[in-house]
Amino acid sequence: MMNAVKLLGLFALVPLALAIDRDIAEPLTVPGAFIVEFADGHDATKFRRQAPGFDTRLDLDFELFKGMSIQLHNTDNADEAAASLASLSGVKSIWPVTVVPPPNPEVHIIPGADSESLRRGGGNSSEVPYSTHVMTQVDKMHAKGITGKGIKIAIVDTGIDYEHPLLGGCFGEGCLIESGYDLVGDNYNGTNQPVPDADPMDNCFGHGTHVAGIIAAEDNELGFRGAAPGVRIAAYRVFGCDGGVSTDVLVAAFNRAYEEGADIITASIGANFGWSSAPWAIAASRIVEKGVPCTLSAGNDGSEGLFHSQSAAIGKGVTSVASFQNTKLPLSLLESFETIDDGPRTAFPYDACGGDNFDGVARPLWAVGFNTTSDDDACYPLPDDTPDLSEYHVLVRRATCGPFDQAENLIAKGARSIIVYETGLDTSCIYVANMNDVEAAAMVPKEIGEAWVEALAGGANITVELISRDQATPIVYTQDGGPTAGAASFLTSWGPSYEMEASPKIGAPGGNILSTYPRALGNYAVFSGTSMACPFAAAAFALVAEARGTREPAVIENLLTSTAKAQRFQQVRNGEAVFQDFLAPPLQQGAGLIQVYDAAYGTTMSLEPSNLSFNDTDNFVESRSFTLTNHGSKQVTYRVSHVPTHSFYALPENRRLPSRYPTQSQPEHGDVVFSASELTIPAGKSATVEVTASPPEGLDANRYALWSGYIALNGSDGTSLSLSYHGLVGSLHNAVAIDEDNTYLTVSTGESACPNRIYTLPPHGIIVDAWDKPLPQLYANLYWGTAKMTGELVRLSNTTQSNETGESIGQLAGFPVQWASRGFWTWVWYGRLSDGQYAPVGRYKIVVKALRIFGDESKDEDWQVVETMPFRIRYEE
Ligand SMILES: *[C@@H]1O[C@H](CO)[C@@H](O)[C@H](O)[C@H]1NC(C)=O
Ligand SMILES: *[C@@H]1O[C@H](CO)[C@@H](O)[C@H](O)[C@H]1NC(C)=O
Ligand SMILES: *[C@@H]1O[C@H](CO)[C@@H](O)[C@H](O)[C@H]1NC(C)=O
Ligand SMILES: *[C@@H]1O[C@H](CO)[C@@H](O)[C@H](O)[C@H]1NC(C)=O
Ligand SMILES: *[C@@H]1O[C@H](CO)[C@@H](O)[C@H](O)[C@H]1NC(C)=O
Ligand SMILES: *[C@@H]1O[C@H](CO)[C@@H](O)[C@H](O)[C@H]1NC(C)=O
Ligand SMILES: *[C@@H]1O[C@H](CO)[C@@H](O)[C@H](O)[C@H]1NC(C)=O
Ligand SMILES: *[C@@H]1O[C@H](CO)[C@@H](O)[C@H](O)[C@H]1NC(C)=O
Ligand SMILES: *[C@@H]1O[C@H](CO)[C@@H](O)[C@H](O)[C@H]1NC(C)=O
Repeated sequence: MMNAVKLLGLFALVPLALAIDRDIAEPLTVPGAFIVEFADGHDATKFRRQAPGFDTRLDLDFELFKGMSIQLHNTDNADEAAASLASLSGVKSIWPVTVVPPPNPEVHIIPGADSESLRRGGGNSSEVPYSTHVMTQVDKMHAKGITGKGIKIAIVDTGIDYEHPLLGGCFGEGCLIESGYDLVGDNYNGTNQPVPDADPMDNCFGHGTHVAGIIAAEDNELGFRGAAPGVRIAAYRVFGCDGGVSTDVLVAAFNRAYEEGADIITASIGANFGWSSAPWAIAASRIVEKGVPCTLSAGNDGSEGLFHSQSAAIGKGVTSVASFQNTKLPLSLLESFETIDDGPRTAFPYDACGGDNFDGVARPLWAVGFNTTSDDDACYPLPDDTPDLSEYHVLVRRATCGPFDQAENLIAKGARSIIVYETGLDTSCIYVANMNDVEAAAMVPKEIGEAWVEALAGGANITVELISRDQATPIVYTQDGGPTAGAASFLTSWGPSYEMEASPKIGAPGGNILSTYPRALGNYAVFSGTSMACPFAAAAFALVAEARGTREPAVIENLLTSTAKAQRFQQVRNGEAVFQDFLAPPLQQGAGLIQVYDAAYGTTMSLEPSNLSFNDTDNFVESRSFTLTNHGSKQVTYRVSHVPTHSFYALPENRRLPSRYPTQSQPEHGDVVFSASELTIPAGKSATVEVTASPPEGLDANRYALWSGYIALNGSDGTSLSLSYHGLVGSLHNAVAIDEDNTYLTVSTGESACPNRIYTLPPHGIIVDAWDKPLPQLYANLYWGTAKMTGELVRLSNTTQSNETGESIGQLAGFPVQWASRGFWTWVWYGRLSDGQYAPVGRYKIVVKALRIFGDESKDEDWQVVETMPFRIRYEE
């Protein structure tokens, strides 16, 4: 098998800021680096003898993965070299080493907090149940004494600050963080050589420390605690202080964790949207097959729309985890003081949003308006009778016109200190402090702002002191989760895969999660993302494993998916998040929010499989079946029913580009008919139900309508189980993958290109600044991912003719691209071909081809083709 992808090297990537609403799909490969897997009986020594000319990056000498990663000395002809390595008898597979970017949760670090001064706003934490545990029944597991005892969870991440007082305070035997390894070292950035050492301290990023706290933080005054505090943890650090992680390091980390006795492996890491073929996903799948569950975050690209699952989360057997919003909203804030009329001076929480010229001087508070539901406070110039605002702290409600317009209108009346109070949906800071004379900007929570407005409306005088960031006491202020409380997070990346596999699998709390953070970076932080949901799911596996006495990944996963609670869909309308009257589709929330107690104790049934894919229109499978097995001692009768949800269009009307956050729901749904609507299953017996589906009618197949829903099973013993299904109206094979209008050749300096332009390329092997030197630059915009994209250089005659054809003289360096994500791809071309040769002087065109989804490489009609205008090249002497 041969999967060579190479995009860097002489074929340099030029970062671009395009006025197009797409992200540039990053070509993330390490030039000249490959992962080689040996055939049986082969090893590194034999391989070195067979194939000289490389350095070893990593030895991948594991029970489940025998191979190595290599760095070729000569990166010029890397693709050709890889092809010849692949043909060696000792080589089973070879893949390019790709780079997975660091995780990207939304981060809110608690300013300047240390464990002494930090306290919790609004009550004594140890008396309150912890919200994420209540949402998922983890509190009920803890009440039964189930904490994940005897189970070792490996966390593959940025390392862990094991000296954090809530994470055991030490490293090694007898400590919570019992073992681990730093596979990369501080200076590693994803493309250079990793330098391992024995110490997995999280000394730069903090992400892994946050993840570890979600699993096992000790109880504390701030009110959060780990979901499985009885486990032991092994920390595998795979990120340096900057950049991403290469897939060879991930293969090594997972296999090392497996061999060092991990019972569960969790990694909140991923990339490669929409495809499951990667050595790392394969490595994870093998580990799951050996009985060790792997939980992976589904990704935080919900805004990218459907078909955006990330790898390795979509690897076979791997558990991909969606995020749900915490029902509480912990805010990391500072404390200042207010006085109402002659009342006492009392503390209130606020966030300093830049400027920070809070002198602590008491000033009266003046509110723009007394309407606590208005959405346009200070969106227009203020009336003439507005007082001089320079002597006040000005209170304004967050408005749809945005903080800058608001600030502008307030500044016009002299405002120097602006306090925005929140609407409950968005609690991020407002950064207006650098505008004109604004000296300080602050944010206060909804309840505080509303209480102030009410008091002012009633004629009270409020005096507010704003203490500067350095002087103020940090507090964690927990408020109600607001309108998104308990919802499936908007940020979770949606499935399915391009091959119509369901993803994500299950959901866990990931939005607005307070947890541990490295001591050097502030001790505590609030993060949001599937990165937070993923370790929670790993903890849930540990709890179910302890309670059920099984470690079998498929068994635990089935228990978690079949008992999960599906949530209603939520949509943002006019800035407000509103629950709809239909369920969120499984392609967003998986089976739903995990209910750990029900999974551990609630049922004696197993339900297989966990989902049914009816595939797209071309590959429609009319009927699928599932099997229920009664492992209990009593007969149970189940009623089978259908809970459809709305269909979702992948494409907006009249556009070929998948929509941003999928809001295009349609009430139409598919129908399913069961071979039996009631099942009586004696103890120890199984029953199989055939599900015959018909896709919804009246939907526009050109927009790709994803239809889905749940099959509910209500048992006479009071249990309720479910499984999800999905299908697609539309032909993925016919999807237009490549955008003809946005796949073209231009000039790297930004000049416009015209046909037959002559590009003077630098001498062979010389890289120049493509912003300064006009080089050919190829763009390819992919509407959908493609399993393979080629770029052929076609030789034309020297004189211009109409409808020109010519001979391909090979692929440009960097092609073919395998498993390409959708988005904008771009290359600056120096004349080099994929075999390392340089194209001769002459006249050419480039022919870009994208393989259709489910297409057959050998058939011409399965490729979409776009040609560039003709151009000429010559080389500098
Ligand atoms: C919080 O409550 C617990 C249990 O009632 C008690 O032991 C602890 O002292 C209280 N902490 C504070 C700061 O009041
Ligand atoms: C990684 O670091 C190396 C030096 O060790 C540097 O040459 C390379 O450009 C860096 N890569 C990235 C992506 O920052
Ligand atoms: C407050 O603002 C909302 C939203 O603009 C509006 O619907 C409502 O009528 C206003 N209330 C008052 C009392 O003006
Ligand atoms: C608020 O302050 C104003 C001006 O200082 C004063 O006239 C008024 O009586 C005060 N109102 C209350 C309720 O104290
Ligand atoms: C859908 O059909 C295609 C083509 O037969 C197949 O390759 C793919 O695996 C199917 N997907 C699922 C989830 O069954
Ligand atoms: C869906 O079911 C298939 C088996 O048919 C299974 O391999 C896959 O892991 C399941 N995916 C999800 C998201 O449950
Ligand atoms: C099955 O149980 C679920 C959850 O308890 C409930 O919402 C649903 O209405 C029940 N369905 C039927 C058909 O009884
Ligand atoms: C085009 O011109 C170049 C030199 O100008 C020459 O090397 C090449 O052979 C010519 N190609 C054709 C197809 O005539
Ligand atoms: C060029 O090719 C197109 C499509 O193959 C054809 O319609 C057109 O008539 C051709 N033009 C000439 C000048 O041959």
